[in-house]
Amino acid sequence: MFLRNCWYVAATESEVGLQPLARTLLGRPVLLYRTGGGKAVALEDRCCHRNLPLSMGAREGDDIRCGYHGLKFAPDGNCVEIPGQTQIPPGTQVTSYPLIEKWNFIWIWMGDPALRNDTLLPDWRCLDDQPGLTRTMGNDGKPLPMQCHWELNNDNLLDLTHVVYVHADTLGGAGLDRFPITTERLPRAVRMMRWSENVTPPPLLAQLAKYNGAIVDRWQATLCELPSHCTIDAGFGPPGEIGRDGDWDKGVRLRALITATPETETTSFMFYQQVRNFAVGNAEISKRFIANIRDIFLDDVHVMEGQQRTNSARPDAPRIEIRADAPLIAMHRVIEQYAAKESAAG
Ligand code: FES
Ligand SMILES: [Fe+2]
Repeated sequence: MFLRNCWYVAATESEVGLQPLARTLLGRPVLLYRTGGGKAVALEDRCCHRNLPLSMGAREGDDIRCGYHGLKFAPDGNCVEIPGQTQIPPGTQVTSYPLIEKWNFIWIWMGDPALRNDTLLPDWRCLDDQPGLTRTMGNDGKPLPMQCHWELNNDNLLDLTHVVYVHADTLGGAGLDRFPITTERLPRAVRMMRWSENVTPPPLLAQLAKYNGAIVDRWQATLCELPSHCTIDAGFGPPGEIGRDGDWDKGVRLRALITATPETETTSFMFYQQVRNFAVGNAEISKRFIANIRDIFLDDVHVMEGQQRTNSARPDAPRIEIRADAPLIAMHRVIEQYAAKESAAG
């Protein structure tokens, strides 16, 4: 099941150039490239004549010529040439998907074009250039491929208790899971938050931020917006100095913007960036940080792929729910509600 009337990250801006990139998104083969003027284009990767993928053809100027019988398609999806005839029958076209380039990502709308709504992008303004913050692109500008359903990534990020077990040496910390979480249900999103007092700091962040205190107050918050756009806000500061509702920028603060784009029903791509308020502008720390975060996320992918293998083998196996599941169950409801709306609309 995919929600279609949403924006998804199709690629990072740096992945798409003059050379076409073929990628399956929401179960549909898509071809991404840039025109000579630099504008990003996304075409259905399927010739409407005999279904050869257009990615097996060749670029001609800003157009793509099919590699089978030579039909040529313009960036708007319309066929502009059929070898051997002057007449182009009406409807000789492939889908050209709307794109938005923003925050170093290329966002694609694969739903009903009439329902396109640019206000449905997540609120990732923290990625805008601003003083006091350093942004890093995850995995050097490439998505992490995941052999799992896209929704497992929401589940993973809405239950950050897992840092204690999956990322013990980097993001973990003793005592974190003693503190309760709150769940806030919004019309198209769910917010999870945990505030922990007098706990140990996440080892990796303390090390990179050169923070020496042994005991801190610490927060972990996730805003998960439809369909899979997660803003993780995590950090810490000296006990009693920041406060649950205080200014988190006074502490060591990391925001991770993470989204999973479905490829098929059981595979997806994780795209992510981070914004930090420590070691600002320090290129050496950025390099280490990118490598460390990739290793951490690969541990998550390892877990989610394990879940997927079981989910595929035993789809009906009974599962229990615990208190920490409240945010992810709430997000499942939001997704189900919108999926039902989409299927009712046909
Ligand atoms: S399949 Fe593309 S031109 Fe025939
Ligand atoms: Fe994780």
